[in-house]
Amino acid sequence: MSERPALIVRPCFQQDLEMVQLIYAHHVLTGTGTFEIEPPSLDEMGARWGDIVQRGWPFLVTSRTDNLSRVMGFAYARQYRDRAAYAKTFEVSVYCAPTTPRQGAGALMLAHLLNALRADGVREALAFIGDSANAASIGLHAKLGFRHVGTLANAGEKFGKLLDVVVMQRSIPPLRQPNS
Ligand SMILES: CC(C)(COP(=O)(O)OP(=O)(O)OC[C@H]1O[C@@H](n2cnc3c(N)ncnc32)[C@H](O)[C@@H]1OP(=O)(O)O)[C@@H](O)C(=O)NCCC(=O)NCCS
Repeated sequence: MSERPALIVRPCFQQDLEMVQLIYAHHVLTGTGTFEIEPPSLDEMGARWGDIVQRGWPFLVTSRTDNLSRVMGFAYARQYRDRAAYAKTFEVSVYCAPTTPRQGAGALMLAHLLNALRADGVREALAFIGDSANAASIGLHAKLGFRHVGTLANAGEKFGKLLDVVVMQRSIPPLRQPNS
């Protein structure tokens, strides 16, 4: 088995957004993991990123430790829905560059995302995965402890095909309180 590169995960900064936009545009134009059809512009990606970080929610990128300036992928989490009772339930999203598949970037970012959510007292993490044939994303979430909780049949249509949404969920154990 080939050795996996050493990776680092860190918060996404403004200067990373160009690569974040390129990675996402690739998946919008070629894949069924996202149901967007038109890639968002750099300005629009900046607005989405700004909205997440201003609320104190996690938006992360990963790079190889020997090539820190190249973003291999990004991941973020947002409250599942705005209504107040959903405050402890977050939806996660992960996208990796097509040039560096299966090197552990997706799993590492998702693990960091879950840790950040745990530190913020989030209780449940959800993933809405486009396309029931999306083996990579379903496998990634299963590896990080998500279980399949439902399928929204034919909820999307892209590239002339009806597509399911696979819903996966995992609980996030609370941080141990000191002296507990
Ligand atoms: C899903 C995605 C983020 C995975 O990124 P990645 O960096 O290649 O994933 P990793 O190398 O960390 O793999 C983690 C695990 O996911 C699973 N996995 C990854 N790619 C897979 C594939 N092609 N087929 C089956 N399982 C796969 C495996 O369980 C893998 O663990 P292993 O390599 O130890 O067996 C990436 O394929 C991607 O960006 N896909 C398109 C966008 C998308 O659908 N995002 C999800 C929307 S929420």
